[in-house]
Amino acid sequence: MPRAIQITAYGGPEQMHLVDIPVGEPGPGEIRIRHQACGLNFIDVYQRTGLYANPLPLTLGMEGAGIVEAVGEGVTHLAVGDRAAYASNPPGSYCEVRVMPAKTVVQLPDAIDFDTGAAMMLKGLTAQYLLKKTLPVEGLQPGDFVLFHAAAGGVGLIACQWAKALGLKLIGTAGGAAKCQLALDNGAAFAIDYSKEDFVARVKEITGGKGVKVVYDSVGKDTFEKSLDCLRPFGLMASFGNASGPVPPFAPGALGPKGSLYLTRQTLFTHIATRESTQAMADELFAVVGSGDVKIRIDQRYPLAEVAQAHRDLEARKTTGCTVLLP
Ligand SMILES: NC(=O)c1ccc[n+]([C@@H]2O[C@H](COP(=O)([O-])OP(=O)(O)OC[C@H]3O[C@@H](n4cnc5c(N)ncnc54)[C@H](OP(=O)(O)O)[C@@H]3O)[C@@H](O)[C@H]2O)c1
Repeated sequence: MPRAIQITAYGGPEQMHLVDIPVGEPGPGEIRIRHQACGLNFIDVYQRTGLYANPLPLTLGMEGAGIVEAVGEGVTHLAVGDRAAYASNPPGSYCEVRVMPAKTVVQLPDAIDFDTGAAMMLKGLTAQYLLKKTLPVEGLQPGDFVLFHAAAGGVGLIACQWAKALGLKLIGTAGGAAKCQLALDNGAAFAIDYSKEDFVARVKEITGGKGVKVVYDSVGKDTFEKSLDCLRPFGLMASFGNASGPVPPFAPGALGPKGSLYLTRQTLFTHIATRESTQAMADELFAVVGSGDVKIRIDQRYPLAEVAQAHRDLEARKTTGCTVLLP
């Protein structure tokens, strides 16, 4: 019987158990995929703790790459034997083999290996929609400053490189000198160690007092308020995560005196709601990876059975770049 990592109750990493699960045939619009690698994402932590609730028992995991084993009725873009990769709802990628909706699964180009495919889909598609579709009213032009928190993480290092390719001056924040150097080595124009430095003051200094056009904030509770003070008038606060905890309730009235700011809370799953949008975004991602503009760094690998350690390391801020789990 194929093995999977499941939780039956929300809680810490110890709630994740390796179990045998039966896997059947794909129904209409579904495929069965045998994973060669699975991606680790911070959303897996939110789903494990119950911050993002799902029905239990739950096989965790939102990202993977492998070989298509069976194709259900009506699926035309994938065939048995295809190399494929995805970022997808519903969860369930922490396993050897699964049946899942085909619409968010795309063919993986031959030049991209399975580990890279599993590492890059959720994080890379997120960097894509943030930098290309989550824009201030005036748009983003080469030379513009943006602020990107947690710049040495999985999404962060992809965003640093992609922003540079777009000609943007990305100011990255990260915890510690080594992570700041990593962000700089990957294309950030400036890096701020927000564990030591006042990032609002540093952003003002770097931008000559003007502020940035967009803040991309996945840290949440610890950075939200101060991030608003980094924006120039009409700037966009793009909140997309809660690594430090959810942002507390917020009064929109505060946006006015700070410069008629815009606020949005984005999720990848709106962007990849259709097969067409998923493919278009994936094509852009494969193009920047194929050209070498964006290199996918896999800094950690764990056997799938050791996923608890992977979660501990991610939550303890010990990881950089992407992490894959090997079934
Ligand atoms: N909404 C969406 O569509 C979407 C999609 C993908 C990812 N995300 C979000 O984007 C963020 C990055 O995801 P990822 O998977 O690539 O993770 P990651 O960036 O590799 O790891 C999270 C990083 O957040 C920073 N952090 C700050 N405060 C933290 C705290 N109290 N506890 C733990 N980490 C903290 C740490 O970097 P430092 O040590 O440098 O501070 C840590 O390495 C996550 O918040 C995730 O939920 C959102």
